[in-house]
This record gives sequence, structure tokens and C-alpha cells, in this order.
Amino acid sequence: MMVLGQGTPAATCLLILCLLATGCHGNQFDPHLYPSNGPFFEGWYVRLMDPAQQFSLGFLHGRVLPAKNSSAGTSASQSPAESQKCKFSSQHCAMHKQQGLPLVYASVLVQDNNVSQKLQSYNGAFPARDYSVTVQGGKPVVQNPDDESPPDFSVKLGNNGSFVVTADGTLVNVAIGNVRLYIKASNPVPWGPHGEGPESWLDHLPLPLHWFVYSLRSTVTQYKFTDAASGRIVSGGNARLHMEKNWGETFPTAWVWSQGVTKSNVNLALSGGIVHFIRDVTAFLVGYRNPGKNIVWNFTPANSRVSFVHDGCNGAFNLNLTSVDHKLALKVSSPMSSFSDCLLGPEKYGFRPACVESYNAVASVRAYKRNYFHFEEVDRAEIPQAALEFGGTYVCKQKCSGI
Ligand SMILES: *[C@@H]1O[C@H](CO)[C@@H](O)[C@H](O)[C@H]1NC(C)=O
Ligand SMILES: *[C@@H]1O[C@H](CO)[C@@H](O)[C@H](O)[C@H]1NC(C)=O
Ligand SMILES: *[C@@H]1O[C@H](CO)[C@@H](O)[C@H](O)[C@H]1NC(C)=O
Ligand SMILES: *[C@@H]1O[C@H](CO)[C@@H](O)[C@H](O)[C@H]1NC(C)=O
Repeated sequence: MMVLGQGTPAATCLLILCLLATGCHGNQFDPHLYPSNGPFFEGWYVRLMDPAQQFSLGFLHGRVLPAKNSSAGTSASQSPAESQKCKFSSQHCAMHKQQGLPLVYASVLVQDNNVSQKLQSYNGAFPARDYSVTVQGGKPVVQNPDDESPPDFSVKLGNNGSFVVTADGTLVNVAIGNVRLYIKASNPVPWGPHGEGPESWLDHLPLPLHWFVYSLRSTVTQYKFTDAASGRIVSGGNARLHMEKNWGETFPTAWVWSQGVTKSNVNLALSGGIVHFIRDVTAFLVGYRNPGKNIVWNFTPANSRVSFVHDGCNGAFNLNLTSVDHKLALKVSSPMSSFSDCLLGPEKYGFRPACVESYNAVASVRAYKRNYFHFEEVDRAEIPQAALEFGGTYVCKQKCSGI
């Protein structure tokens, strides 16, 4: 998913302040403090990859604290767009007509290639009173996390599920509609040392949206997916888990997100698009890893130039990043038949249709190092079973914009 801004030394100052202050807890994967006024949201996303079974799934959940609409004096969950015709004939519209945009939302995404090319989503809205986020074995969240401490928190969706993350591992146990999901994972592989994430230390700036990757590929020791409606059961014990979160005001106007890892641990994770920070900019956060070649490259707006061409109607984008020493040329694409219907994303007044996603993408990577006046290719890779998301106005025909 997404974020960004421009680099500044203020980030360093804030970091030092946090390190000096006593009692900072948990790394950035831990819950953040909700402000007293919205818009604000926080959401977690994990993605499981089991290439041997041609199977992949995701689990995401989060809560929006909506912006207040002062002039109308309406209930907080009602949006200005509420009077518009609901374009989506689904479950979502019915739910929306009844109670406004959902504020607490969870989704299981499934790419089960033996059953269907298309990524399926199973969605549930929950009342805010059923959503509880606690740290350190049940304590309320009273401050923002620091960077260094291991995570220690738990999210509960009423009686329907929990997401528990500690230094010892991660446990997902959730029932949404007819589906159930269980995941047990451990041994996270962090983005960087000392709790560094994709934003590097830009995450201490008041950006409109933040993106943190807690683990590039945790080891899944056991998982089970059950769909009572179809009778389908998929289980395994040899898969990997990407783990990340977003927090901030709302999702941006337009974005792409991609993530993938090969058998030999070549790893790509990126997020970017049109971000409003002082003005609209096209900004990307990108991490590329190839342990076999000692490559650990991070690109942020503070260290690189971006060249980006996207085509949501062909399920593809092309992104080049150039820093002083390195260049990364990426092509990510997935068959249109593999993309989901519109998925919901957090916006100012609640969750609403925002993006489409596929887990059948291929990311091809060319990596170059500067050698005096030109770039020399040092690595190339193809990452199969990658995730690819188009959001906001980057979605083909903007079909997910609206309610
Ligand atoms: C899909 O089919 C392949 C080949 O028959 C099999 O090895 C794999 O386990 C199947 N995956 C699932 C999730 O059923
Ligand atoms: C408040 O809601 C009304 C209608 O629901 C809308 O016309 C107006 O623009 C909204 N105000 C703000 C500040 O969003
Ligand atoms: C909660 O779980 C029950 C039982 O499994 C299920 O019927 C219900 O649809 C779930 N709620 C949501 C919002 O998915
Ligand atoms: C990225 O660079 C490659 C060559 O390395 C070039 O073929 C491609 O057109 C570039 N794409 C963009 C979007 O700049």
C-alpha cells in the first residue's frame, strides 16, 4: 500500500527525541495513538505465499476515525458523497445504505489458482465497539511506538478474530462470513536494522500517510483456509508471510503497490503514486534485496529520481529509480483476469471501494550500479506470484472511485 514526502534533517531530530524520551514501546508495527479528531486510520496487512501449492492469500483489517462534517451536523460516519447513487451492487451497497461507510473492516483475499484465475475477496464490516487494540498483554495504547523494541500487541474483531504479534511470532485467527483463516508465523525478516522501514526515518514526519514493512518474509509454520460455502480447504506448513501496516489520514489520490519474493529470497516491495505533501508529487518507496549478491537497496524521494508509466487497463506498470550509485528498472504486470473486484480502502469518512489487486503478477527487475559515467547491470531477476495493486485514479477507468 502506500506513502511519502521529501527528506529533511528534522527527521533525525525527532528520532533522537524519541530515543531520549523514556518509555517508548514497540516498533512501528505496533499500534499508533489515535488523535482526538479524524480523519485518521490504521490498518495491518499480511500476505501469505505458498508457491508449491500455487496458492496465496492476504488478510487485512483496520479502523477509520472519520473526519467530522461540521456543517451538516450528521453522524460521523456519513460522507458528503452519501447522497450519490451507489455504483456497486454488492453487499457493500446494502451495508452502506444501512449504516454509512464501514469504519472497521476486515478482508481475506485469496488467489487459489487451481480454482480460479481471479483473486477473490471475503469482506466483513464490524461495529467499532467490537474492535479492540491493546499492547503488552492487554494494556490500552497510550503512546506511539518507538523503533527498536520488538512488537507486542493484539487486535480483536469481537468474537470473530484476533491478530496477535509478539517477538515470539504472529498468530492470525479469523472468521469472515463463510471463511476461516488461521496462520502461525515466526522469524520475521526486517526491512532494515534498528526498526528502519521503507520511509527510512521520514516516518517521523507528519506525512499524510505512512507505510511500514515489519517483515519481508516470515516463516509460516502452519496455515489453514476454509470456505464453508464451497467446501474448499487449503492448508500448508511451508509458506512465507509479508507483513506491513499503514497509518495516517487517508489513502492518496492514486497509487500502486507491489510485493514479492523468490525461492532464493530475492525480494521486492514498493509503494508509490500521487501524494499530497505541501503539493502533489509522484513519489515512491522501494526496497530491493538479493542476499546472493549482497544487494540491499532502498529508494526514497530523498535519494532518487523516478520515471513511472502505468497502465491499469493492461495490468502493468514500468518504474525506474535512479540514485547517485544505483538504478533499478522494474516492470510489474499481471493478467487482467487475475485482478479482484474493487476492494475497499480507508478514506476520510470510512472504508470505500478504492483499488484492485492480483497475486499472480510477475515483477522483472534489472539492477545497475554506477561505474563512473554509466550504469552497469549487476543483477536481473523475475519474481513470480507477486502482488500488484492499482488504487484510486490509477485503476482502469477509475472504476473503483465512488461509493
Ligand atoms: C494445485 O494443484 C497442484 C497440481 O495438481 C497441486 O500440487 C497443489 O497442491 C494444488 N494446490 C492447492 C492449493 O490445492
Ligand atoms: C458535509 O456534508 C454535506 C452533505 O452531506 C456536503 O455537502 C458538505 O460538503 C460536507 N462538508 C464538508 C466540510 O465535507
Ligand atoms: C463472524 O463470524 C460468524 C460465525 O463464523 C459469521 O457468521 C459472521 O458472518 C462473521 N462476521 C463477519 C462480519 O464476517
Ligand atoms: C526504464 O529503463 C529502461 C532501460 O533501462 C527503459 O527501456 C524504459 O523505457 C524505462 N522506463 C521508464 C518508465 O522510464
